[in-house]
Amino acid sequence: MDFMKVMHTRQTTRSYQTLELSQGQVELILHAGQNAPVSRGRFEDYHITVIKNSEILAAITSAAKEVTGNKDKDPLYGAPAFFVISVKEPAKPGSIASAAAIVENMHLQATAELLGSCFLMGLMANGTLDAEGIREKMGIPDGFTPVAGMVAGYPHGYLHDRPRTLEKIASNIVE
Ligand SMILES: Cc1cc2nc3c(=O)[nH]c(=O)nc-3n(C[C@H](O)[C@H](O)[C@H](O)COP(=O)(O)O)c2cc1C
Repeated sequence: MDFMKVMHTRQTTRSYQTLELSQGQVELILHAGQNAPVSRGRFEDYHITVIKNSEILAAITSAAKEVTGNKDKDPLYGAPAFFVISVKEPAKPGSIASAAAIVENMHLQATAELLGSCFLMGLMANGTLDAEGIREKMGIPDGFTPVAGMVAGYPHGYLHDRPRTLEKIASNIVE
């Protein structure tokens, strides 16, 4: 898909079919994340975990419901794959910006594959991944903290091109 089309088709998907992603789809998305820019070029300070195991996904959903007290909301939206970005220095703004750059690359790659995807930070911010046993189940390496993530999967229906706009984010151009 041409870049402008990918950019304008990218959208947040919050409902997924139960179909799993293939190994090839997961690897394409992962490679997009691995080729993102990161602060100071310190690639060794970042780690991407991909959870496809349905029992672990269910454990994360249930930990989130416990933490938020909202039993009706699945923060993973039933997606079959959860990509998690962990960093060595979570207090540094550059780490968070880099994690976001990694997620955005993956979000665009998922879109190019006509998959639905959703940027996720709420789960990391509300402490769900710190719930007992969750980090171990996810295999987050020691010394790393999860700060951002994305779910991906087959949407119900198709992703469609959205109207192009210059108005969503205000701007000024100084000549
Ligand atoms: C940094 C960041 C964090 C986000 N965290 C969440 C989240 O935790 N849960 C969620 O459902 N959506 C999350 N989103 C998705 C936004 O709500 C969404 O991108 C925004 O409403 C614009 O919609 P669009 O992606 O369809 O253009 C996040 C997006 C960004 C950029």
